[in-house]
Amino acid sequence: MDFDLPWTEKYRPKNLEEVIGHKEIAERLKAFVKSKNVPNMMFAGPAGIGKTSATLALARELFGDAYSESLLELNSSDERGIDIVRGKIKDFARVLPLADVPFKIIFLDESDALTPDAQHALRRTMEVYAGATRFILSCNFSSKIIEPIQSRCVVFRFKPLSENDIREMLVKISNNEGIKISEDGIKAIIYISDGDMRKAINALQGASTLSKSISEETIYKVSSRARPQEIKEMMEFALKGSFVEARNKLDYVLLNYGMSGEDVLLQVYREVASLDVPDRAKVQLVDRIGEYNFRMVEGANERIQLEAMLAQIMLIGQNAHESKK
Ligand SMILES: Nc1ncnc2c1ncn2[C@@H]1O[C@H](COP(=O)(O)OP(=O)(O)OP(=O)(O)O)[C@@H](O)[C@H]1O
Ligand SMILES: [Mg+2]
Repeated sequence: MDFDLPWTEKYRPKNLEEVIGHKEIAERLKAFVKSKNVPNMMFAGPAGIGKTSATLALARELFGDAYSESLLELNSSDERGIDIVRGKIKDFARVLPLADVPFKIIFLDESDALTPDAQHALRRTMEVYAGATRFILSCNFSSKIIEPIQSRCVVFRFKPLSENDIREMLVKISNNEGIKISEDGIKAIIYISDGDMRKAINALQGASTLSKSISEETIYKVSSRARPQEIKEMMEFALKGSFVEARNKLDYVLLNYGMSGEDVLLQVYREVASLDVPDRAKVQLVDRIGEYNFRMVEGANERIQLEAMLAQIMLIGQNAHESKK
């Protein structure tokens, strides 16, 4: 039933018109649909911004009812072995196109998960079936795709969605689901989603299970993020030498929001720019945050690293203060 569907699926764009943002890309795709002529394409860009959605919308517009027989979706990271991918492509390409479009589309999701060897095999496959198939490769990092494949594709770069793009979707869903969300709540989702629509929709749905009236606090709770202001306060305590207070703040965000060490570091990093310290101190802060991030990734004790970072912030604050004198 409808309300069991995750909202990311329920509100997935049904046609190219409904794809939010990416105006130029959508226009070019519409032109392909109109001429019933599609090149091999590569959709590159970060997660959750509409690469898969644009592909599905394109296929729907192009193939109409024959949509499901005319599009083969393959996930490169599930089906690591290129032999399996090739086998599926072969079976699919053997059956002639059904719609009045003379080709079928193969969508290779997460193609940057394919090893270079697999990519070379794929390049050959693309050539063999060039007559009756078109490929759309989606990837997060185009640099991981070998040059010969890139040169066979028209490359579209998808950018993170803007605040207004995210807002548009949040308002649409809230209205449709009968949810009240405060302006602060919307701003909080925009902050935590970082241009990723999937994250934004999931945060809204997560919060809506707690309450039909959504505030900033609910959003930060369901997404394990602290209010930016709280992180900033923690850093400001450290900068002015109040180590104990900074540590208390740290305890609070860790407990209250259930954040991981890396979550805290990421938010600390994002607040650097907004601090009232000289540029030199900001540079030092970023340098230190980078170091602690590396240590945590390598498995060092999170709690100790976070406190050590606060201590470093304190020293940087002291230096900045002294050089002002
Ligand atoms: N531009 C957009 N317009 C409208 N909805 C979007 C857009 N981008 C993402 N969404 C929503 O977010 C969900 C995830 O988007 P999609 O699957 O297209 O992301 P993706 O770019 O393919 O990400 P990934 O790299 O993780 O595969 C969709 O189901 C849809 O609900
Ligand atoms: Mg995708």
